[in-house]
Amino acid sequence: MIPENIFWAALARSSTIHDLRSYDHGPGHWQRVAQNGIELANYTEGADVEVVTFFALFHDTMRQNEWSDPEHGKRGFELAQTLGVEALLTPAQRHKFGLAVVRHDFGEVESDPTIGCCWDADRLDLPRVGIVPDERLMSTEAGKSAARRLERELLGERR
Ligand SMILES: [Fe+2]
Ligand SMILES: [Fe+2]
Repeated sequence: MIPENIFWAALARSSTIHDLRSYDHGPGHWQRVAQNGIELANYTEGADVEVVTFFALFHDTMRQNEWSDPEHGKRGFELAQTLGVEALLTPAQRHKFGLAVVRHDFGEVESDPTIGCCWDADRLDLPRVGIVPDERLMSTEAGKSAARRLERELLGERR
C-alpha cells in the first residue's frame, strides 16, 4: 500500500503533470497500469504486488515529452528516492523497483515475475495511444494471454 503522503508528493512533484500536462502518460495511465499490474500479479507466481504498485505510480512521473525520453524512468526513480520510497522496501524489493522503473521503456522482456508484471502492465495500456500490445513483448504468461485477448478485441473484425 502506498502511503498517502508519498502519493500526494509524487503528484505534486511530477513533471508529467505540471510541465507536460500529459494525458497519455499522466495519472489516468498510472492508475490503469496499477490495475493491470495487480491483476497480472494475481496470476503470476512470485510477483510482488507492492513493487508493482510503486512502479505504477512512479514510472512515468517525470516525463519531459510525449515521445522519445529515454531518461524519464531514471528521473522517476530518482523522485521515488527523494521521497523516501526506498525506506519502505526491502533490499530485494528496492532492486526490482529500481530496475523496473529505470528500464521500463527499453523494449526488453524479463524473466523475474515482479519486473515482468510491471512492464506487461505498462504495455497493456498501449491501446490508449492506438497501439495494439505485442504478445512477443510480454514477459509473463498472464501478460501474453491479456495481449492476445486485446489483439482479438481490437483487430478481430479486420481478420
Ligand atoms: Fe514510460
Ligand atoms: Fe507508462
